[in-house]
Amino acid sequence: MARRLAAARLIVASHNAGKVREIAALLGPLGIEAVGAASLGLAEPEETGDTFIANAVLKARAAAEASGEPALADDSGLVVPALEGAPGIYSARWAGPGKDFRVAMDRIETELTARGCETTGAAAWFVCALALGWPDGHCETVEGRVDGTLAFPPLGEHGFGYDPIFVPDGHARTFGEMPAEEKQPLTHRARAFEQLAGLLRSGPQ
Ligand code: IMP
Repeated sequence: MARRLAAARLIVASHNAGKVREIAALLGPLGIEAVGAASLGLAEPEETGDTFIANAVLKARAAAEASGEPALADDSGLVVPALEGAPGIYSARWAGPGKDFRVAMDRIETELTARGCETTGAAAWFVCALALGWPDGHCETVEGRVDGTLAFPPLGEHGFGYDPIFVPDGHARTFGEMPAEEKQPLTHRARAFEQLAGLLRSGPQ
């Protein structure tokens, strides 16, 4: 049986303030306090896994072992099957040291064109892997996904990352054109959290 969280607080294994805020907002209604790894001075492990789940597990385990408390980590990205799954687990790295996602979005368009593939209309999906880790090394994992198509040129000023080129299925606008309250319930992260919620209510350890 899956292990459930009995603690009233969780270490969020991320040094990204935006991510910690978003996760804190999802944990708040469940009565769980979120504490950022950076505020505890925890080191950030290198993301050496070759899947979203592997990287989330690696981050959750490192934070749980270092803090002695349960920790939650997320790893996410955009998958384009016509590019053999790229940028995938390298989604953040495609933006380069300047974290410029215009560069990353241009690269997707250029690489699709170089392969003779359609750019607007190409299938894509976002993935969010969540790992809940305990100090003894035990980990529970879930994965959420939202399917859609790509659209060029990038459109919209909302959101972050690849939002301006992603149109979720069943919608006519990019995530970048949607205000946060419209995008949030549709996301891979929200879907992953729905699955995790069952483990975050008090129950037998
Ligand atoms: P991580 O911090 O290694 O998980 O990197 C995730 C990267 O995937 C981010 O830097 C974004 O570029 C991209 N990404 C993840 N979720 C979203 C989203 O909801 N919209 C746009 N880009 C996203």
